[in-house]
Amino acid sequence: VRRLADWPDGRLRELADEHGTPLYVIDPDRIRENADRLGTAFPEAEVSYALKANTNRAVLDTVEQCGLGAECASAGEVQRAIDAGFSGDRIRYTAVNPPARDLDHVVELARGHEFVTTIGALDTLDRLRDRDFAGHICVRVNPGVGAGHHAKVTTGDAPQFGIPYDRVPDVCTSIRTEMPAVDLVGLHAHAGSGISGDDLSAHRELVRRMAELGRQVGGLDFVAVGGGFGVPYDPEEPPLDLDAVAAATREAFDRCNAQLAIEPGRYLVADSGVLLTTVTAVKPTPETPVVGVDAGMTTLLRPALYGAVHEIHSLAPDGDARPSRSCLLAGPICETADVLDRNRSLPDPRYGDVLAVGNAGAYGYEMASQYNSRPRPAVVSLAGDRIARRETISDLTRLER
Ligand code: LLP
Repeated sequence: VRRLADWPDGRLRELADEHGTPLYVIDPDRIRENADRLGTAFPEAEVSYALKANTNRAVLDTVEQCGLGAECASAGEVQRAIDAGFSGDRIRYTAVNPPARDLDHVVELARGHEFVTTIGALDTLDRLRDRDFAGHICVRVNPGVGAGHHAKVTTGDAPQFGIPYDRVPDVCTSIRTEMPAVDLVGLHAHAGSGISGDDLSAHRELVRRMAELGRQVGGLDFVAVGGGFGVPYDPEEPPLDLDAVAAATREAFDRCNAQLAIEPGRYLVADSGVLLTTVTAVKPTPETPVVGVDAGMTTLLRPALYGAVHEIHSLAPDGDARPSRSCLLAGPICETADVLDRNRSLPDPRYGDVLAVGNAGAYGYEMASQYNSRPRPAVVSLAGDRIARRETISDLTRLER
């Protein structure tokens, strides 16, 4: 695991000076290391990157060069994967309740690229038939077991995802008998996001159930058991023991002839990114000092949406010489939820200090918005390449007449 303390402070300060803040910094080398770690722990598995964690082109190029597959949640993500050079046989489209426009685009793309299209409802099957879809199909299973760091990202037991476990064998039989133009190649499920080492029971149960289904349905190329491998957001938390997860997975996947497939997002990219933000105001209040920063919930939504606590360090060059103070770190958005942390101890924050927020490579920029008419931040690589330019105020009205 790369902790926030392992990033080069001086280099991060230079990047903040040169590009301004808020600024996301991505280190592609770290993505490669994470991909290697996954490959070593799961040599028998097909590993696909869940694009939703971070779709920046530089990230996709790196993942593509590592030889991983692409798990895509929308037509837009499929298009991005194709643009980044992923071949069709490495792409899986796994949209939930796909809008008609999404299906139109995907069916068109699938003619040229032959990727796997997942159905999570019988409706989708009908709608694919209406569009004369011919190609590889995978069934999204609702496994009835969920896990995750927060109820909002626990998918395995939520009714909106997939075909109910018990109905899957029948659905597979009817696909095979009634749709000769399609080839049923796999099953797919995802328990949730943020599996931690202390509790592998839900993951184990999901894998066990999927393997059982794989045996029952038979004749499949792969059974995908989702992503969800957690990373430590709290620096005291030990990193996930991937070998233990792999061993538990392997044991539970017993006697399934299809290939095991996993699709991690966060694990590959979270610690490849930091967010840099500048202190814009320091205000004493009777309760606690309030420190205003230029990154808010429109830059990094996770604290406001999930109560996520990211590691935060001051990059102030003389930080070590300052007394530590506990403060409330608030962003620039007019919502009480716009708080990075309510009780964060930092070396006496001052106007202009740059702070670094750790594990910002996953679900950071990707969930950014323009709410309050705040332009989205820039993204640079640690080497200094601009990988997404900062939006300007005129970008805000680009789509309006
Ligand atoms: N596969 C499927 C079908 C998924 O729905 C997801 C994530 C993944 C794989 C990848 O999960 P990961 O390995 O990244 O945990 N915005 C939330 C996370 C939402 C994840 C949704 N699905 C967060 O910031 O915590």
